[in-house]
Amino acid sequence: MKRIFEQKNLFCLPWAQTILGTHLNEKVNFMALDWLTRVNITPAMLGICVNKNNASHKAIVDTGEFSINLPTAEMIEKTDYVGLVSGRHVDKSDLFQVFYGELKSAPMITECPLTIECKLSQTVSLPTHTFFIAEIINIYTEDEILSEGKPDIKKIRPFLLTMPDNNYWAVGENLGKAWSAGQKLRKS
Ligand SMILES: Cc1cc2nc3c(=O)[nH]c(=O)nc-3n(C[C@H](O)[C@H](O)[C@H](O)COP(=O)(O)O)c2cc1C
Repeated sequence: MKRIFEQKNLFCLPWAQTILGTHLNEKVNFMALDWLTRVNITPAMLGICVNKNNASHKAIVDTGEFSINLPTAEMIEKTDYVGLVSGRHVDKSDLFQVFYGELKSAPMITECPLTIECKLSQTVSLPTHTFFIAEIINIYTEDEILSEGKPDIKKIRPFLLTMPDNNYWAVGENLGKAWSAGQKLRKS
């Protein structure tokens, strides 16, 4: 029998773990970020949800730029750490090696096999968070993590977050092809 789960905010959807990179008062800052989604194809756009109390929120409002970095499983400790402390009180700028693309205030993490530089396009103010919608300016990757020209999740070894148990998970085995596994059930 179905039952109503008491806490509306605690659901077990897995999120890909990322690190948000910004310039906070002209200094590099990072925070752990999971609330991220694609929102448009052309131009390529994504949306992220950032708590208004986070220093990264101010950084995005001030500069209109940010980066999304996909850490590997080996980077769990540092990724979690940047989600525990605020750039308001702690200098997180030297935790990772940084490189830049076209944007001046979107520091990207060299150790991450896939990074995305983003330019703010729209903001949606919600009670506790802001949903920042941004255009993807460039995606940076490395030949070593590509298979047949596409990023290969097995080579990247990203990790996922689940709540409410607050655990990190490796990506498991391949289950089949998307836009294909259901084809045999189609009637037309
Ligand atoms: C695993 C994990 C995921 C997180 N995801 C988000 C998120 O999606 N949005 C958000 O606003 N804060 C998120 N946080 C909290 C921020 O990373 C945390 O408040 C951080 O200290 C903010 O740093 P800042 O003040 O330097 O911006 C997450 C924290 C952890 C540990």
